[in-house]
Amino acid sequence: PLPEAFQVPLPVPAVLAPARSDATADYYELTQRTARLEILPGLRTEAWTYGGSYPGPTLSVRSGRRTVVTHRNELPVPTVVHLHGGHTPADSDGYPVDLVLPVGSSADHLAGRAAGHAMAGMGGMAGMGGMTGTDAADPARTVTGTRAYTYPGHQRAATLWYHDHRMGFTGPAVWRGLSGFHLVHDDEEDALPLPRGERDLPLMLADRAFAADGSLAYPAADPELAVPGVTDEYMNGVLGDVILVNGAPWPRAAVDRARYRLRLLNASNARLYRLELDPQPPGGDALVQIGGDGGLLEAPIAHDAVEIAPAERFDLVVDFSRYPPGTAVRLMNRFGGGRTEEVMLFAVGSRRVSDDSAVPERLCTLERLDPEDAVTTRVFGFRRSRDGDWTINNRLYRPGSALARPALGSTEIWRFFSDVHHPVHVHLNPFQVLSRNGGDPGPYDAGWKDTVDLRSAEAVEVLVRFTDHPGSYMLHCHNLEHEDMAMMADFVVE
Ligand code: C2O
Ligand code: CU
Repeated sequence: PLPEAFQVPLPVPAVLAPARSDATADYYELTQRTARLEILPGLRTEAWTYGGSYPGPTLSVRSGRRTVVTHRNELPVPTVVHLHGGHTPADSDGYPVDLVLPVGSSADHLAGRAAGHAMAGMGGMAGMGGMTGTDAADPARTVTGTRAYTYPGHQRAATLWYHDHRMGFTGPAVWRGLSGFHLVHDDEEDALPLPRGERDLPLMLADRAFAADGSLAYPAADPELAVPGVTDEYMNGVLGDVILVNGAPWPRAAVDRARYRLRLLNASNARLYRLELDPQPPGGDALVQIGGDGGLLEAPIAHDAVEIAPAERFDLVVDFSRYPPGTAVRLMNRFGGGRTEEVMLFAVGSRRVSDDSAVPERLCTLERLDPEDAVTTRVFGFRRSRDGDWTINNRLYRPGSALARPALGSTEIWRFFSDVHHPVHVHLNPFQVLSRNGGDPGPYDAGWKDTVDLRSAEAVEVLVRFTDHPGSYMLHCHNLEHEDMAMMADFVVE
């Protein structure tokens, strides 16, 4: 039986302290390991974690300072860490075959496994040869035990997140717990009177399914996770029937009658949410968006509801003083049904509290990319092929074969189109949405973004400029099952 809603207190992931710092950099250490967590009250769930918790600890870093995170892999599987939204050199970006093998394992072992699977025959998965993440392993790109990821920190304040990105197995790895927040702060944002401290809440939304014994249930096509993909009924993506916020089922947060900053991240494998407060405060416009994937917007945008696709972030300010003291305010998911329509509860206090926060009319000045500067337009079609494969421009992902080679420093227009719903993500640089279905951008497309949601049969044009780092990067669908089943492509910045 599933737990009752709104009983478990909302956890806030701990902020990781650097192991050491010097004049220009902060050095962090994280061990990836299994942990037995109490996610559903009274039951134990074995999770794959960063540092023993789900979500992993939050990295809270300063723009302009270099961050080095050394990950040690004590999990039973290879891993790859990607900083989502990071402006990262290619060798630290978490390219899906840049594996970190478990401590104590060897590349020989890996080769043995791959050979074994080839002999077992891939049958219906033939189209996905090269996708196991083991036979794709390139010894030159693989390390054993630990890898240090370097993030130069040349990017503005924003809500980023880190998660596993292993070739073919991102879905099951993230499902089991490999994700955490990475918050970038800067002076420009700190100068604004936005809610801070305990009134700045990161909220990681993720749906999950559990077996009766509390274990996480993931419908992998191959329970041994040697071959990527999920069972036929989950080809569109894996949904769970339990909504977790910061790893707790339908939690409750006690809030003051004051403004709060809610940094919403959809870390679900495939679920799209339409979030709304219930009740709405008098006058509506409850959710005041101040930022998106790539940090602050120029000016706040008031919404009654916010639609958030996998990997997107919305930075919202909610003023709970607009509610009568003692109101129970539920965060609802209007795209859900039954228990998945509820997300969490804010229990508004009855005390009068002081609140000197404000949402300025103008938040910052954003550079607008100019379509006139675009040197080319590239088209990427996100579609399921006649063979049932998830493809980009009719191709299954293969590492090392680029779909695009933009020049470093250039601006391009990328046009994405879809058959069914796909959240499209581009690594390295954020982009600005230029048009949606030939018209203006949609209500959730403002500011710098790194993930844009395409509904069925949509076309979205974005402007992207490739800066600082040459090398091989990814664009892909962030429905993690689509991604694992090869809806991914390389682009090489030259
Ligand atoms: Cu959040 Cu390439 O991923
Ligand atoms: Cu997709």
